[in-house]
Amino acid sequence: MSQEKKITKYTASIHYDRRLYRQDVAGSIAHVRMLAKQGIITDREAESIGMGLSSIRQEIEDGSFPWKDELEDLHMNIEARLFEKIGDVAGKLHTGRSRNDQVATDMRLYCKEAIGDTQKNIKALQSALLATAEVNPGVVIPGYTHLQRAQPVLLSHHLLAYFHMLQRDRERFQDCLHRVNVLPLGSGALAGVPYPIDREFVARELGFGGISKNSMDAVADRDFLVEYHAAAAVCMMHLSRLADETVLWSSQEFGFIRLDDSYTTGSSIMPQKRNPDFAELARGKTGRVYGHLVGILTLLKGLPLTYNRDLQEDKEGFFDTVDTLLSTLEVFAGMMSTLTVNVERAREAARDSNILATDLADYLVSKGESFRSAHGIVAELVRHAASQGKGLAELSLEDYKKLSPRFDEDIYAISVESSIASRDVPGGTSPRRVEEAMKEAHRLLEWEFGG
Ligand code: ARG
Repeated sequence: MSQEKKITKYTASIHYDRRLYRQDVAGSIAHVRMLAKQGIITDREAESIGMGLSSIRQEIEDGSFPWKDELEDLHMNIEARLFEKIGDVAGKLHTGRSRNDQVATDMRLYCKEAIGDTQKNIKALQSALLATAEVNPGVVIPGYTHLQRAQPVLLSHHLLAYFHMLQRDRERFQDCLHRVNVLPLGSGALAGVPYPIDREFVARELGFGGISKNSMDAVADRDFLVEYHAAAAVCMMHLSRLADETVLWSSQEFGFIRLDDSYTTGSSIMPQKRNPDFAELARGKTGRVYGHLVGILTLLKGLPLTYNRDLQEDKEGFFDTVDTLLSTLEVFAGMMSTLTVNVERAREAARDSNILATDLADYLVSKGESFRSAHGIVAELVRHAASQGKGLAELSLEDYKKLSPRFDEDIYAISVESSIASRDVPGGTSPRRVEEAMKEAHRLLEWEFGG
């Protein structure tokens, strides 16, 4: 490669910013319409530029567009092609505009679409989790703290926990959208433009909610991307936790779920293997999404106002994060809606009689003991049972009574079911509450965010 080519390659962004072509063409068309409306160019000129731009979009879509690396970026490629197509009038397109406000506009348009797609995919995963919760009513699993069996819960309650994490994620993207939804075009290179432009018109044409208030800020900042990255990082963190539980639960040790064959892979040497690669990859990909968040923050932190070429580096990480998040959400929606639950295995694990230790303490409380001392008594019981190689349910009433005279025959009525049913508080795991929670989840899904 010649020295000159190497140098051009270093500054070029065309191999990745071509992804912005739809936004770029839309922004340009809105801009020339406004220029004509304001009498800055003639209607005929605007029409010719508009038609040229539309045919360029068509060429890009059918793969016939002659991309030129030496033209550096998408904007220069499109403008050069416009000259080839319509001649010198193409030179009027860039009136009252700079690549600085142009590229900021493209990125905001792209980000708005990405937010819509992300919210749609989050919602699809929420629906899948809800459907899986609904087709497994009454399925009991151990709930864990410290990955130790803690208290029995309904599987649907556990799944709805993820539903709510994702609901907050969807809201976070909606919140981010308010600040993305602002038009920078009309800021020029940095100081505004010396033409009687109508920025509000362009904003309406492009579907923006408003216009930026400071031209220097508009071309210099990318905080709206930081917000997308941050919301994406939180969402991937949630998916990664779900991924981790998917790996655990589908293992032979847990065996609570069986993933559909399409979401497992075999091993090249061990024929018995059904590896949860999709879940593992999602967990792994979370790292690069975090990385891009740190990348954009670092990119911005030392930049003097306004535009600096460093900003060109805002794109690849962002596109990668969008792609990673969208595909992970899609894979998870499929994986969650096709898994099957091994009801017996889950129940077996939840039948571990020590899992009802808290219920025994609550029993003593109902008989007048303070919770703290009840806790101590049951801890002693657990130790005593363990020393005899038994679970709590296998101890005799005498054993119980030795530790507290408050114990009676009715302790044997304490069961996984009674334990779950007793957690009948808002947000608790009782069947009644979970049923209500599932109805509420449907309402949350149906509710569309405005804006
Ligand atoms: N490719 C550039 C970017 O993505 C477009 C803006 C170029 N502006 C400039 N002053 N060189 O940031």
